[in-house]
Amino acid sequence: MTKPVALITGAARRIGASITRRLWQQGYRVIIHCHHSVNAATQLAADLNQQSAHSAAVLQADLTDAQQVRQLAAQALTTWGQVDLLINNASSFYPTALEQSTDQQWDELINSNLKAPYFLCAQLADTLTQQQGCIINLIDIHAQRALPGYPIYSIAKAGLQMMTLSLAKELAPHVRVNGVAPGPILWPEQSAAISAAEQSAIVDKTLLKRAGTPDDIAATVLFLAQQSYITGQIIAVDGGKSLYSH
Ligand SMILES: NC(=O)c1ccc[n+]([C@@H]2O[C@H](COP(=O)([O-])OP(=O)(O)OC[C@H]3O[C@@H](n4cnc5c(N)ncnc54)[C@H](OP(=O)(O)O)[C@@H]3O)[C@@H](O)[C@H]2O)c1
Repeated sequence: MTKPVALITGAARRIGASITRRLWQQGYRVIIHCHHSVNAATQLAADLNQQSAHSAAVLQADLTDAQQVRQLAAQALTTWGQVDLLINNASSFYPTALEQSTDQQWDELINSNLKAPYFLCAQLADTLTQQQGCIINLIDIHAQRALPGYPIYSIAKAGLQMMTLSLAKELAPHVRVNGVAPGPILWPEQSAAISAAEQSAIVDKTLLKRAGTPDDIAATVLFLAQQSYITGQIIAVDGGKSLYSH
């Protein structure tokens, strides 16, 4: 049997890299998508290919650009002739004050978090159907309860949540579509970075009183990839933060 192929977007670093390693350890050939993190993606692929030849490839694309999204889907298909698993993990994340919001912010946040995942699903639907494959979307617990100060991001993730439920119907019975909604796992960087005090206030609002790890997310992604009777479900991996109530 040939090894299944997984395309993971935003896979060079952080949670995407953990998901990639976990899937690779389970026998997937991995297509590591990146945008700016070409060096990290190339290093990750080299490390995996050194241990098992021809088991990892790198594709670069800006997911805000529809043409590059189409190219990514086409190149992913030609890499090994099939895609069995699509992980929509890439995401841009930063605050947008309502009255200062720009078209550029809207396009960047909506395109990377919602439009690109939708068109990747559409453009890979044939191969995923042939392979009886699976799609897993990385959502956010704030798809259900808006994150204050982040309206466009929250709207995009709410769309991704509905996309998960909608495409589970559209692609049934051949392709399963599920989601993982992380709580606090890795703190944001650069323009979205927050102070240590803000971090501990967030952790305090989890029932388990700690942040999760990228491995917690990767293990849940693998679980959903393997459970052949689950579709249209979104699992919160949030230490109970969505239940916290005072
Ligand atoms: N971290 C958390 O605690 C947390 C909490 C809730 C939800 N999540 C969700 O879980 C997923 C992974 O989280 P994360 O924190 O690991 O993500 P991240 O580091 O913020 O972003 C992952 C990758 O997305 C890629 N990306 C962003 N804009 C892009 C664009 N226009 N085109 C192509 N790629 C783009 C970047 O790739 P390059 O580096 O190659 O440019 C980046 O490395 C995301 O969907 C996130 O929303 C995470």
